[in-house]
Amino acid sequence: MTSMPRTKILGTGMYVPKKIVTNFDLEKTLDTSDEWITERTGIKERRISSTTGGEFPTDMAKYATEEALKNAGLDRNDIDLILFATVTPDMPLPCSASILQTKLGITNHCACFDLSAACSGFVYGLDLADSYIKTGKAEHVLVIGSEMLSTVVNWKDRSVCILLGDACGATILGRSGDTDESDILATHLSADGTGKEYFDNPIGGAVAPLTVEHIAKREHFMHMKGRDMFKVATRTLAKNTRTVLKKADIQMENVDWLVPHQANIRIINTTVSILKFDINKTVINIEKYGNTSSATIPVAFHEAIMENKIKRGQTVVFSAFGAGLTSGSIVFKY
Ligand code: ACO
Repeated sequence: MTSMPRTKILGTGMYVPKKIVTNFDLEKTLDTSDEWITERTGIKERRISSTTGGEFPTDMAKYATEEALKNAGLDRNDIDLILFATVTPDMPLPCSASILQTKLGITNHCACFDLSAACSGFVYGLDLADSYIKTGKAEHVLVIGSEMLSTVVNWKDRSVCILLGDACGATILGRSGDTDESDILATHLSADGTGKEYFDNPIGGAVAPLTVEHIAKREHFMHMKGRDMFKVATRTLAKNTRTVLKKADIQMENVDWLVPHQANIRIINTTVSILKFDINKTVINIEKYGNTSSATIPVAFHEAIMENKIKRGQTVVFSAFGAGLTSGSIVFKY
């Protein structure tokens, strides 16, 4: 009897823009302070992409993928599916996944598509990748979370711009070896569209194509109801983590690492305390990068591996939450 294929994370990589913008830098242009931002969000600085090129979402994804390929010991043409999670694609058409394919020099005509699920996009991508691998439809799937939020944020809106930054994380998934215990044990995705106005950008699509009037009134940026997002985020992150662990029949105390979406240190602390989990086993890097939407989890995960915190064989949970209101949790043996 042949056993069910298991999915392994073969390699990871990341890229963050060179330019660092600290809270003190923001004090110079906004009515805000390092003290307010640090206390309310845990963020000290964020990275901002160059607008003249070289650090657009697909550029960052190219660098991150090259590192992930090296860590996985694979060739670029081994990739047979690219899932590019983003709310800030290089351009509306074509998809960033296809642009990345050419930037990487992949010549095997692998399938490419973008995935729009806001901050949960990367976890949605992992769930899809797991299905493709377990059903044998793909051998090596590249999942990207890459964002250049600095282009869609209103830098005059102090309640939102202080939160966000630019970054990219890349992960390559494939089959586990016969003697290898690595596997994605369970996933749980959900969404609640009734909260869609909590975090949106309604201008620039089919309903309201972008006009000069929108730009003049600065209506074309993201809007967020911070307090509403805060309340739903903590409830949902904790609930989904419990649900995914139940699906995999794993107790919270047997989890080695929790990698939550990095939106606000207070959201992370509240979630961890609801779950009665150990904060020292929670990966947190929000102070360096702020909220980079779909990129927060793959970047935090990659850094934790590089710092020798997360090790092979350990049980890890990712839990994400974002606009839409999408959410997703995943538990796996790394
Ligand atoms: N600097 C100084 N003062 C500020 C700033 C700022 N940057 N921003 C807002 N304020 C002021 C407000 O104007 C308000 O002043 P008032 O009392 O005179 O009216 C006061 O600070 C309190 O504002 P609140 O919005 O009530 O502050 P709160 O404690 O709720 O913190 C924050 C705001 C940080 C946005 C918080 O609500 C939050 O983090 N929410 C979650 C946001 C989030 O993470 N969203 C994304 C999650 S999903 C995803 O990543 C897509």
